[in-house]
Amino acid sequence: MQTLELMKIGILISGRGSNMLAIVEAVQSGLIPYSKVAVVISDKTNAKGLLKAKERGIETLTVSKNGRAREQHDAEIIDELKKRGVELVCLAGYMRLLSARFVRAFPNKSINIHPSLLPAFKGLDAQRQAIDYGVKVSGCTVHFVDEALDHGAIIAQTTVDVKDEDTAESLAARILEHEHALYVEAVRQIAKGNVEIAGRRTVVVKD
Ligand code: GRF
Repeated sequence: MQTLELMKIGILISGRGSNMLAIVEAVQSGLIPYSKVAVVISDKTNAKGLLKAKERGIETLTVSKNGRAREQHDAEIIDELKKRGVELVCLAGYMRLLSARFVRAFPNKSINIHPSLLPAFKGLDAQRQAIDYGVKVSGCTVHFVDEALDHGAIIAQTTVDVKDEDTAESLAARILEHEHALYVEAVRQIAKGNVEIAGRRTVVVKD
């Protein structure tokens, strides 16, 4: 009998981990097929998401920067991911920019979620940037990771209306609800082998 090889997912977090949890739950319920979350790695020992992952039976690990250069820190994370056979890396509120070394180690195999409609409002506090700019529509983006901040090819986006009474916090909360669904759907399509990438453009093949 042939055994089905599951796609091993590694998730990097720095904090709360709600996107991480959405992916873990979708894998465990079978919504994301042919996959297993092999490890959740944080760069912060006190990341709240670590406990949430542990409670769901997922191996967790902290790899602190400890004053090292980005490349050295990334090398250790790459090592931990490779040791476990990770094929897809999901950044979920991971607050560090990844080095070229990391991007090369997982070519077109690292993805990120960002709480704006990229290329608008890259970087920190995207929801506050959206409020301050006065846009009427914002949203969230799942994209491949490259060496530039919030820059790689876009896989999927969802729009979220900005209401007149919105604050950065209320907008962030509303976008977050959409993030979970968008990230799960993107990982589901990747797991099914439906995402094709050509330069900056990706196509999600319909099944
Ligand atoms: C999310 O808004 C995500 O888009 C951004 O950081 C936040 C992480 O939230 N990259 P959580 O840790 O997944 O709850």
